[in-house]
Amino acid sequence: GMAMSPVSTRKDGKLFWIISDNPPVNALGHGVRAGLAEAIAKGNADGGVKAIIIACEGRTFFAGADITEFGKPLQAPGLPEVCDAIEASEKPVIAAIHGTALGGGLEVALACHYRVAVPSAKLGLPEVKLGLLPGAGGTQRLPRAIGAEAALGMIVSGNPVGARAAHAAGLVDKLAEEDGLRDAAADLAKEVMDRNTHPVTSRREDKIRAAKEDPGLFDRFRKDNARMIRGLDAPEACIAAVEAAVNIPFEKGTALERELFMKLVTGDQSKAMRHVFFAERTAQKIDGLPKDTATYRVEKVGILGAGTMGGGIAMNFLTAGIPVTMVEREQAALDRGVAIMRKNYERSAAKGKFKPEHVEAAMGRLNPTLDFEALGECDLIIEAVFENMDLKKDIFSRLDQVAKPGAILASNTSYLDIDEIAAQTRRPDHVLGMHFFSPANVMKLLEVVRGKETAPAVLATAMAVGKKIGKVAVVSGVCHGFIGNRMLAARQEQANALLLEGATPWQIDDALTSFGMPMGPFQMADLAGLDIGWNPDTTSSSTVREVLCEQGRRGQKTGKGFYDYGEDRSRTPSKEVEAIIADFARKSGKTPRDFTEGEIRERLIYPMINEGAKILEEGIAQRASDIDIVWLYGYGWPAWTGGPMFWADTIGVGRVLSGLERHGKALGDDFEISPLLKTIAEDGRRFNG
Ligand code: 3HC
Ligand code: NAI
Repeated sequence: GMAMSPVSTRKDGKLFWIISDNPPVNALGHGVRAGLAEAIAKGNADGGVKAIIIACEGRTFFAGADITEFGKPLQAPGLPEVCDAIEASEKPVIAAIHGTALGGGLEVALACHYRVAVPSAKLGLPEVKLGLLPGAGGTQRLPRAIGAEAALGMIVSGNPVGARAAHAAGLVDKLAEEDGLRDAAADLAKEVMDRNTHPVTSRREDKIRAAKEDPGLFDRFRKDNARMIRGLDAPEACIAAVEAAVNIPFEKGTALERELFMKLVTGDQSKAMRHVFFAERTAQKIDGLPKDTATYRVEKVGILGAGTMGGGIAMNFLTAGIPVTMVEREQAALDRGVAIMRKNYERSAAKGKFKPEHVEAAMGRLNPTLDFEALGECDLIIEAVFENMDLKKDIFSRLDQVAKPGAILASNTSYLDIDEIAAQTRRPDHVLGMHFFSPANVMKLLEVVRGKETAPAVLATAMAVGKKIGKVAVVSGVCHGFIGNRMLAARQEQANALLLEGATPWQIDDALTSFGMPMGPFQMADLAGLDIGWNPDTTSSSTVREVLCEQGRRGQKTGKGFYDYGEDRSRTPSKEVEAIIADFARKSGKTPRDFTEGEIRERLIYPMINEGAKILEEGIAQRASDIDIVWLYGYGWPAWTGGPMFWADTIGVGRVLSGLERHGKALGDDFEISPLLKTIAEDGRRFNG
């Protein structure tokens, strides 16, 4: 029998309503497309109908093409055809927009003759974030509706605009009352239905005239946005398509758009970025925990330690409107921490990212104090004191005394054993790790570390809290360094070894930055400070790093570390450092040799993937895509490769295995190839399904 169509129609006097109901986001899957095409034909065939309105049930207007259909054979009708049919309707078609009109959703709206939206609606073409360009006429119609320059901004950034801004730009014809969308759409329909002609976006020339007279516009845009589009294929395709909208007829422009779309959608970058889209959402799912697990209310947060991490963590909650009690052991550290938070807020305000009155509102929610007892009122307490097990144990046994019953106790520790910390309390089921990444007010990753006794509701609460403050939370089991830092350590070990084998710090860093990482291990070390964990009284000149510290090269803050730094923090290779390394290499009996960038990259990245495989086989990570998310959002791994495990899938796990075997002895005496990696390689399978 026929499946129920997600699209229904209803006649209402001279108006013809087309309603889509395809939860959760009205994605334009095959059923919706077929339903839309059929309904437009039906409305046109009915002599009593004078105007057609397209609206959606549920939380949003069409949020785009159905991403799960990409990479599968297309089932007709395609979205471009549906859009053309809407635009060719003899009777005016009105889009009634609420929620998010994104991608194919906005393309449907652009094909309509009129657009009505509620003020809370958002409109955008986010395809670029999936490594694509709009593929149903969006690159050709949007410039004709709002001008080429404005269209470039929306299409290349992928960021949506609010309905008010869209109205001002001419993208929305009429703003409705928040709860009066259908009425406003009907009113507009009645107002226009007796007119002889209706605006047809693809035939408009008025808005692209300015760009025709300014052909330099596109190269200026390329130059101004070079940093944002570095390494990516999709933005250039977007620019080329908008340029075509200005310079060639609509039909030719859409043909070019189609060609570019097909090339991107079958390419590695878009596959990787679609993987990231779903990986981010899958990360929220916790194995063995029902989706509706009850969570605790978190209305007041306590933070212990006002250092680098404590301050950054606090800002997340303050920005989200949640009051924070921040406890320090000494006034000077407290004052310093609070001042840095204020400065960070003020800097964001100066850049226009934040309203000045929001700075005061956020800081007003902060209660800085030396009084440990003040934590007694908090629902969630996050400890961010020095990385020292004895100190953390002492703190947790005291927290257990002070915290109210039911309060959750979390540690931001980078490496330490959460179970050992939890054992200091009478409530190990209410203890877990909440590991933020520096700078904690910026980086989107939160590792939620599940202890062996952590209660399901406590885990679910930490995940929900992460979402509330705008983080992407990933569950990790307990091990040294959890998911991210454990893999980082595997990379660092190889980086240190490579130095003694003859690769320079800058070659090593560049092998990763040219891959797309924001910085390499030695840049990272200089930024964090080489003297973390270094003690001038016990230093023994036994590592390169120790000698650098002894010579006053302690990283960026001292103007020199592995690199020399200029006033503008630009890095230059140092002869002095080269000499120190050469000296070490000599003593270690190694003969320095030359390395290619490819070999360095394999030596650094393949062992990370091997460590990732161990993390999977030990059950520390729930799934390979969670590991990808950790690296994408915690360390800036390039999105267009999909994360380390997806990248391994793309190049072939077999290639990683043979690389590890080829590098053999150089990887170190303790290095072991993960049995899981080996099996997957030998079976020709992938980490990500
Ligand atoms: N296709 C298929 N599934 C989608 C989808 C889409 N376009 N958009 C969302 N979903 C799914 C999600 O995977 C999620 O599934 P799950 O519950 O099984 O995990 C569910 O819908 C709900 O999504 P979110 O959790 O993201 O819900 P939010 O309320 O947080 O966000 C949203 C809603 C803003 C619409 C967000 O989902 C979003 O940004 N979606 C993608 C929008 C997009 O990129 N559209 C362009 C698609 S490409 C295109 O249109 C090509 C065209 O030019 C031809
Ligand atoms: P930090 O040295 O900047 O701050 C620690 C603060 O804790 C200091 O202000 C100190 O005065 C305070 N403190 C020490 N003992 C205290 C006590 N008994 N009571 C109250 N306050 C006390 O250290 P940072 O970098 O913020 O690190 C904190 C924790 O976060 C560590 O466990 C670290 O491993 C972890 N972490 C650090 C990251 C980083 O990049 N710096 C990243 C992720 C986690």
